[in-house]
Amino acid sequence: MDEDFILIKEGRAEIKVPNPDKYLRPDKVFEPAWAPVFYNPAQVLNRDVSVLVLKTLLKSRPFERPVRVIDPFSGTGVRAIRYGLEVPEVDEIYANDIDPNAYNLILENVRMNGLQGKVRVFRGDANAILYLLRSLGTSFVFVDIDPYGSPAPYIDAGLWSLRNGGVLAVTATDVAPLSGSKHVAGSRRYDVRLSPSDVGLDVGLRVLLGFMARRAAVRDRAVSPLLAFHSGHYYRVFVEVSRGASRAVEMLSREIRYLRICTRCAFLEFSLELADAGRCPMCGNSLKILGPLWGGGLSDAQFLRSLRVNLQGLEYMQSLKRLAKLLEVVENELTDLPMYNLVTLARFLKVNTPPITRFIECLREAGFKAGRTHLSPQCVRTNATYDTLVRCTATTAP
Ligand SMILES: C[S@@+](CC[C@H](N)C(=O)[O-])C[C@H]1O[C@@H](n2cnc3c(N)ncnc32)[C@H](O)[C@@H]1O
Repeated sequence: MDEDFILIKEGRAEIKVPNPDKYLRPDKVFEPAWAPVFYNPAQVLNRDVSVLVLKTLLKSRPFERPVRVIDPFSGTGVRAIRYGLEVPEVDEIYANDIDPNAYNLILENVRMNGLQGKVRVFRGDANAILYLLRSLGTSFVFVDIDPYGSPAPYIDAGLWSLRNGGVLAVTATDVAPLSGSKHVAGSRRYDVRLSPSDVGLDVGLRVLLGFMARRAAVRDRAVSPLLAFHSGHYYRVFVEVSRGASRAVEMLSREIRYLRICTRCAFLEFSLELADAGRCPMCGNSLKILGPLWGGGLSDAQFLRSLRVNLQGLEYMQSLKRLAKLLEVVENELTDLPMYNLVTLARFLKVNTPPITRFIECLREAGFKAGRTHLSPQCVRTNATYDTLVRCTATTAP
């Protein structure tokens, strides 16, 4: 074996990847982007969950055969190969990468895993390949958009390449632009009004889903989130895509909102209109308005339950424990409710930040729904009134 490459096992696949010891930063941390072909071992949870979602989709929704999946940013081919080995319901997998080194490595890895009859390998731009295949009548039940940085330039082609009821899976590593901390880039890329806020991670997920929904509507399609989460340095979302102009219209009117937010006192509300943001009704500060963004729930409760059931039997997955924990937290999260930052509330009231569990208990005792979020340990999702948020912050502060 060439010393520039090593063999690794991920899931059921055995693949050749660049030797990480050759691409270490001065602090000795592996930098996948420096290697001739991209493979990031830290993204194993992202790939494990994708296998699980695909399995669950094919168990729960009947699709006419042939069942096809595409991995248009394949790198080493690891995803395509794992879909081929771990999801027997898939008939054909298309693996593509624009980079010639990646293309050659995908071919080699496909051969090594005995998948020549099942995985078809392409070299080209993801958009060009997706549109070309679609124009030739080839569409997919699962399209996995996993590019560097922003997925925005590939959403249209991904949506267009899906069969009715198929799933678009998207990774976004441009968390800073999406969440508003680099709001100029985020506004431009996702065609939204953005600014920094204390609930940025929630805003980022909603901007991404809102963008996908608006692009879907352009093509008479509607999206419905199955699972959406943040982990490490990226967002990952899975949406079911259905066809029909009336579905698209209904989705836009039910789910697309603006967020009016006060960065001083933590007041916020979803609104239908991009009206003048105006003054905060609570503290008089000028409000910021963000959006359009996705205002509804971020996942599908029934689908999440099926994911947890189907995870049984997948004990071989390297990220099993972390994945099980993530699914449990997301399943219990009230994602259809707005998220508030307790630290901001406490700072505004000039009190110490309360223990979050006591604060949540107080909101529940007042008759509201409230719970934690996987996005931040200092944030709470709740339908409580702002007055109740203030009272519970003040009374539970140590
Ligand atoms: C983040 S890596 C993909 C990692 C891979 N999906 C995995 O899980 O290991 C992005 C890949 O997309 C490829 N790429 C970049 N721009 C592309 C484009 N426009 N079309 C197709 N592939 C592209 C890069 O060569 C790189 O291999």
